[in-house]
Amino acid sequence: MTTHIEKDPHSGTETTGHVWDGLRELNTPLPKWWLYTWLACIVWAFGLMLLYPSLPYFTGYWHGLLGYSTRTEVMQDVAKIAGQRALVMDKVAAASFEQIRATPALLAEAQTAGRTSFANNCQPCHGAGGGGRPGYPALAAGAWLWGGRLEDIQQTLQHGIRSGAEGARDSQMPRFGVDGVLKPEEIVQVASFVMTLYGTPRREASAETVAAGAALFADNCAACHGEKGQGNREFGAPALASRTHLYGDSFEIVQGQITNPHMGVMPAWGGKLDPATIKSLAIYVHDLGGGE
Ligand code: HEC
Ligand code: HEC
Repeated sequence: MTTHIEKDPHSGTETTGHVWDGLRELNTPLPKWWLYTWLACIVWAFGLMLLYPSLPYFTGYWHGLLGYSTRTEVMQDVAKIAGQRALVMDKVAAASFEQIRATPALLAEAQTAGRTSFANNCQPCHGAGGGGRPGYPALAAGAWLWGGRLEDIQQTLQHGIRSGAEGARDSQMPRFGVDGVLKPEEIVQVASFVMTLYGTPRREASAETVAAGAALFADNCAACHGEKGQGNREFGAPALASRTHLYGDSFEIVQGQITNPHMGVMPAWGGKLDPATIKSLAIYVHDLGGGE
């Protein structure tokens, strides 16, 4: 390589004097406007790095002179929404069910709160959409144990069922087998009769067995379950003359229940959820399809 500055005869531009294999390099510097824009960008970038969170350290990072953080911004937004929501939920707490129903904005908020709270607290036992499963009543079915008006549901939620909480709904079906109130063959008889109530008679049961069961039913069960097995909400006693079953419709399940009743327990929510949420849940459950 030789260094020899001269003018290029074709373009008239000065060369840099660099020559490789006989090729000479022309000296065409960057346009000034380009160069200054580029330098300005570098200054701008350093400025942003100083002002905003940028460089990582070994532990942590440079927070920037402005102290800006997307997290604080989100937290502020969340706090704002929570504040607005709290205002609406206060109104839900203060309003009667009729007032909530009559105010679309309140109703919409209550329905949303109810749906969310149901998914979080109730779904594990009652199933999605309150579909229910053995031992956990289907809330959408309209076959209420304790009552399906908004106020009934609110009371059930507030205090629970056999929860031990004050004001809880409570009743005990006698343990006819375990406590020897009925003999095993009598339990077979009355269970056979119960199965006729919901229209699935037991094949092995003779007419005498069913008749004996009917008499036992009138003496031992009708007080709670009703003369015709229609149920009684005062005791949360399910309708037996119904195709909706709390525990099941097989002979073994009915026999088991009479021998040693399950006595389902539903927790009290009064201590865990605020009044507005409980009201919202009552509205949500009521709207599942079985509300009265
Ligand atoms: C740990 C399981 C469990 C959880 C959680 C639970 N429940 Fe229950 N719930 C039950 C059981 C069991 C019964 C039936 C008790 C009985 O035999 O009377 C019941 C009964 C009810 C009833 C009465 C139905 C009727 O026919 O009268 C309502 C209403 C109800 N639950 C709503 C809810 C709501 C709303 C939630 C959520 C806040 C919830 N439950 C959470 C177990 C649960
Ligand atoms: C003191 C009231 C009471 C008496 C008396 C009573 N029961 Fe019950 N029974 C209940 C209650 C409450 C339940 C539901 C509670 C639970 O076990 O979770 C129930 C549930 C049942 C069920 C389950 C229903 C289902 O849908 O799965 C059957 C079956 C039943 N009883 C049969 C009887 C028979 C038969 C007798 C008489 C021999 C009887 N009961 C007497 C209160 C009573």
